[in-house]
Amino acid sequence: MHDFSGKVAVVTGGASGIGLAIVERLLKAGAKVAVADLNEAKLRELEEKSNGQVIGVVTNVTKQADVAALVQQTVDRFGGLDVAFNVAGASRAGAIIDQSEDDWDFTVDLCLKGVFLSVKHEARYMKDHGGGAIVNVASLNAHVPMHYGSAYSSAKAGVEMLTKNAALELAKYKIRVNAILPGLVSTPLTAGLTSVDAIYDAYMERIPMGRPADPDEMAGPALFLISEDASYVNGASLLVDGAWAVSGYPDLSKFM
Ligand SMILES: NC(=O)c1ccc[n+]([C@@H]2O[C@H](COP(=O)([O-])OP(=O)(O)OC[C@H]3O[C@@H](n4cnc5c(N)ncnc54)[C@H](O)[C@@H]3O)[C@@H](O)[C@H]2O)c1
Repeated sequence: MHDFSGKVAVVTGGASGIGLAIVERLLKAGAKVAVADLNEAKLRELEEKSNGQVIGVVTNVTKQADVAALVQQTVDRFGGLDVAFNVAGASRAGAIIDQSEDDWDFTVDLCLKGVFLSVKHEARYMKDHGGGAIVNVASLNAHVPMHYGSAYSSAKAGVEMLTKNAALELAKYKIRVNAILPGLVSTPLTAGLTSVDAIYDAYMERIPMGRPADPDEMAGPALFLISEDASYVNGASLLVDGAWAVSGYPDLSKFM
């Protein structure tokens, strides 16, 4: 467990799933956390439970004014911004030949433009205040396509490259930027799929560890990347997928 006492963090998408797990770990490690999300009820609940360690900022990460205000409110309330986790994301699925322009725009705006705007405004502050560390949440889908997921996979591949560009441009300001690429994680985002037995079994055929991840298993690697232990890790993509990405070959051990 790292000690982040005295650190100030922003977590977008922090009201649920992976983002919420990151918020909970940050609070245990002593950080002050600005949680940015659309889910106002959950933000207020987090604030009430937190003894002043949390502010909830209703934020649509696809709106530049919201993201700029998020950074400003964080600094106004906690006196700075040291680390940020850009987690907010969702998908509207559709076959390429059928997908509407609206659904493509929704998914790419949220998953890619939302991360761009977040990095932009977080880094603007960090640049003038001694640096910082940023973690973007991409996906295994940055490397592996999925049926009906062209918008999502393309956006996530974009997040991985945006992370590399940001690391390149921001290193001189002492800002590190890395990405985690989760495989299958048990969150509200995936519950609709994994609650269907046949779909769950199809996933498990692909995942050598034979189970989805718990959200907290994403929070640990994410916090490592902002920690001093990762002080020379910059522009990296950390796959956290239970060996899914290396499972493309048939399991010949069954025949030996
Ligand atoms: N769950 C998985 O298996 C998995 C796998 C790979 C990548 N991811 C990525 O991890 C991230 C978190 O996913 P999750 O599974 O925890 O999902 P989740 O649905 O549990 O949480 C996503 C959060 O983002 C918030 N959000 C949505 N749109 C927003 C917006 N415009 N502005 C601000 N907040 C917004 C939601 O209100 C929600 O609280 C996403 O980027 C997702 O693509 C998830």
